[in-house]
Amino acid sequence: MKNPVPSQMTAVFVNAENGKLFTKKVDVPVPRKGEVLIKMLAAPVNPSDLAKIREVTADETVSFIPGIEGCGTVVAAGAGILPRIFMGRRVACSSKYMNSGTWAEYMVTPAGSCFPIGKSISDEQASMTIVNPMTALAFLDFARKNHHKAVVNTAAAGALGKMVAALFAKHKIKVLNIVRNDEGVKAIGKQKNNTVLNSTAPEFPEKFKEWCEKNNATLMLDAVGGELVNRVITLLPARSTIMLYGNLSQVKIEFLPTQLLRENKKIVGFFLGHWIHENGLMKTVFNLIKANSLLKNEVETPVQAVFNLENIQQAVDLYEKNMSRGKVLLKSGL
Ligand SMILES: NC(=O)c1ccc[n+]([C@@H]2O[C@H](COP(=O)([O-])OP(=O)(O)OC[C@H]3O[C@@H](n4cnc5c(N)ncnc54)[C@H](OP(=O)(O)O)[C@@H]3O)[C@@H](O)[C@H]2O)c1
Repeated sequence: MKNPVPSQMTAVFVNAENGKLFTKKVDVPVPRKGEVLIKMLAAPVNPSDLAKIREVTADETVSFIPGIEGCGTVVAAGAGILPRIFMGRRVACSSKYMNSGTWAEYMVTPAGSCFPIGKSISDEQASMTIVNPMTALAFLDFARKNHHKAVVNTAAAGALGKMVAALFAKHKIKVLNIVRNDEGVKAIGKQKNNTVLNSTAPEFPEKFKEWCEKNNATLMLDAVGGELVNRVITLLPARSTIMLYGNLSQVKIEFLPTQLLRENKKIVGFFLGHWIHENGLMKTVFNLIKANSLLKNEVETPVQAVFNLENIQQAVDLYEKNMSRGKVLLKSGL
């Protein structure tokens, strides 16, 4: 048999005492009915991975393998039609189980959490097909259904921010991109049809209010939370919606009910997993095809570095130092 699956693999774990990441050898999981075993080719470090690592309990660290998305080759299939169809294919995949994530040499996941990838997309880009491209599509869907002609987006110099800017520009929806430093302003400044504001600049509140009023921006997509949201609630036009989709600042949002109710403003939450579930299988497959095309034709996600699984803590430290510089990817056997 060509390249048989070994009995043991390297996988990333969390140290329960200090939260640091390390690798150890564990048994390669066996796919059950409806599942596939994937030999991982590449996996990114995303903010949602870091959030999950922070939340994991000491008991869970015993078996928890992080890594929400990635790309790999299906090397074993459990019973069922879909697993057999995917056998030998290169797929984008997301993890479904706490004890089997993409930050390992192999991952087991339901075949329904995989999507075959065309040859024209590299392993690196394919490993980032699901989380951000699907989220950008979800935001576009929401904005169009609710007739928003202009939106505000925060954490705009990151991978998702750039995708949102490109996708919305294509659909003629204006975007006010909010970043937190001059580096972010430069990164966005190169893109067409986009306005960018630095939230730490003294003129920020005035410019923010002016742009939102002029363009009737009644939707704010926010990944930062905390103090930034506190400051802009009253600056947004009446009847605005703030859609919270991240918690990068890790600071609570504090506001008085009157700040919302007087001008009929709303705060809602967004989680990709729920959106995919609500859409059902057919629409999700259709969206994955669109996400694939978005990556192929419009926005490549920049990669700042690639690390071996064994250097996981170094990889995360570099990523956290400057997220706007690009994703950090993990590969085994570099
Ligand atoms: N809810 C969902 O289902 C869902 C789905 C996809 C993504 N997300 C969220 O979307 C966000 C962006 O993801 P991404 O993949 O685009 O990340 P990314 O490429 O790593 O970029 C993160 C961006 O956020 C900025 N940032 C980090 N901490 C910040 C803070 N405290 N205040 C303001 N800006 C900050 C970074 O700027 P610096 O370079 O200055 O650090 C960088 O530009 C994350 O919060 C992620 O969890 C949520």
